[in-house]
Amino acid sequence: MNRRPEVIVALDVETVEAVDLLINALSEDIQWYKIGKQLFTRCGHAAVQRVKERGKKLFLDLKFHDIPNTVAGAVAAAVAIGADMVNVHASGGSEMMKAAARAAAGSDTEVIAVTVLTSMDDEALRACGIDGSVRDHVARLTALTVDAGLDGVVASVHEIPAIRAVGGEAFSVVTPGIRPAGFAADDQKRIVTPRIAAAAGSNYLVVGRPITRAADPAAAAKAIVGELAGVTVETRDPCGDC
Ligand code: C5P
Repeated sequence: MNRRPEVIVALDVETVEAVDLLINALSEDIQWYKIGKQLFTRCGHAAVQRVKERGKKLFLDLKFHDIPNTVAGAVAAAVAIGADMVNVHASGGSEMMKAAARAAAGSDTEVIAVTVLTSMDDEALRACGIDGSVRDHVARLTALTVDAGLDGVVASVHEIPAIRAVGGEAFSVVTPGIRPAGFAADDQKRIVTPRIAAAAGSNYLVVGRPITRAADPAAAAKAIVGELAGVTVETRDPCGDC
């Protein structure tokens, strides 16, 4: 299959001026921008407006996790402010995710779920009372997510085969932890290149510092988008031991 994934740039900055600078620099190659807890807590709706006024797609990455009624209200608010994608924690459970799906029904906003945070390993899960591997738990939470009627999951590239086995091809997989060859891992533990993420079948690549902290963000974005051209999704796991 030949399907080029979208690159979502993580706007992990602190001011709307920094948002403007980045969108100005990247606009030609990048349609999707992610606003997470850091920027939203500082600048809130002003940052959202900066993305939407430019006609860009917005992923509101606030990872809602609360009682169903509260999450439904938050998802409805995300739809109202123009988010094209919003997320919840799958561990909030089936009723919470169904409430999120209902809140976005009839809109074009994709609601996706975080399965297991990529900062957690088997041992961290065990400490929370969950036996079994991260991979098994991702598969379990993906099944709940599909059953609740959500549109996809956020996960590491390494978990894509397990997710596709449960969610099928039409299910969106959003993958952070992307690093072009030669770029510092920063605090990401298991990183892959843009090409490998695309070959593994990721639909959306979330990229932050390799673009936003580059000396030339526009050139960095262009190089990543260029690397994705013509990549074919492989049926065997292209990650191997990466
Ligand atoms: O700078 P970097 O490319 O590491 O940024 C990745 C972005 O993806 C950050 O905004 C981070 O919060 C987010 N993210 C992640 N891992 C997850 C979920 C979200 O790195 N499991």
